[in-house]
Amino acid sequence: MCYNKFGGDIMKKIAVMTSGGDAPGMNAAVRAVVRSALHHGFEVYGVYYGYKGLVEGKIEKLSRGDVSRIINRGGTVLGSARYPEFLKEEVRQIAVDRLKAFGITGLVVIGGDGTYRGAQSLNEMGIKCIGLPGTIDNDISSTDYTIGFHTALQTVVDAIDRLRDTSMSHQRCSVVEVMGRNCGDLALYAGIAGGSEFIITPETGFDKQLTLDAIRDSHLRNKRHAIVVVTEHMLDVDELSKDIEEFTGYETRATVLGHIQRGGDPVAFDRVMATEMGEYAVELLKKDIGGRAIGLSGLNMIDYDIKEALTMKSDVSNKRYGLVGRLK
Ligand code: F6P
Repeated sequence: MCYNKFGGDIMKKIAVMTSGGDAPGMNAAVRAVVRSALHHGFEVYGVYYGYKGLVEGKIEKLSRGDVSRIINRGGTVLGSARYPEFLKEEVRQIAVDRLKAFGITGLVVIGGDGTYRGAQSLNEMGIKCIGLPGTIDNDISSTDYTIGFHTALQTVVDAIDRLRDTSMSHQRCSVVEVMGRNCGDLALYAGIAGGSEFIITPETGFDKQLTLDAIRDSHLRNKRHAIVVVTEHMLDVDELSKDIEEFTGYETRATVLGHIQRGGDPVAFDRVMATEMGEYAVELLKKDIGGRAIGLSGLNMIDYDIKEALTMKSDVSNKRYGLVGRLK
């Protein structure tokens, strides 16, 4: 609770928003923010469609009932958007004015690094912002895991399992492209969990000839099928499939999993982590703390300066990449 200069109570007003690519578990985080805020006696508002909606004034008061039955649902009930215009200071000023018009002093933003950058700027402009890591990419270094990563991972592993069934039946090689933007975690974890033979990510790098040699060797060793998991943007999977066919002896098919990876009901891990993060965000705002990014470190919730969060390097992934090296 805040106090005015005469000692009377002022109702604290905070808002919650999802931004950038949606991720399963965002709803669980929204629910946790709303319910903890109400528990602490705050008024809580939802901003619809990310920073774009904020600038357009799409802000509505939320009640407990508004976030019922969403913990298990994929996507985000608040909607989301990519909005590069938010890089302009004059556009951000409109957002600040919108929030001030409602008397909103704190904002919880759930999204990836672009979302964090917007939050950092808003924080500097006087709105106390807390960032929650929401993206399937797991590319935010201030947390071991991002909200949505484990759900997307399960989706990819399910797809690899299915592809293995058909590649085994036909004695083929399957090349699977997975999302991750510039981060290989989704490909790496899915490749390990799906028992794939080859994993190509931004962190492992890609040497075409080495890859073709290795796949041909496995064919020569009488391996009847192979799965190659590749992070998006690394290479053209159709071209690689043609090269594999020509060079290794495997008949090969490419599959791009695409936006299927972003949908679906969140797995329990994402729901629980998102709930804890949402509660933590409200605790910080209750103490009038802004400019922080929340993360999971081992079993603990921690918070970093949001600027620092944007420049940190991940060592968790490095450990996993070491594991792949040993598996080779
Ligand atoms: O950041 C999440 C993500 O799904 C990335 O993995 C992918 O590169 C990108 O978003 C796709 O963005 P969009 O949905 O805007 O095409």
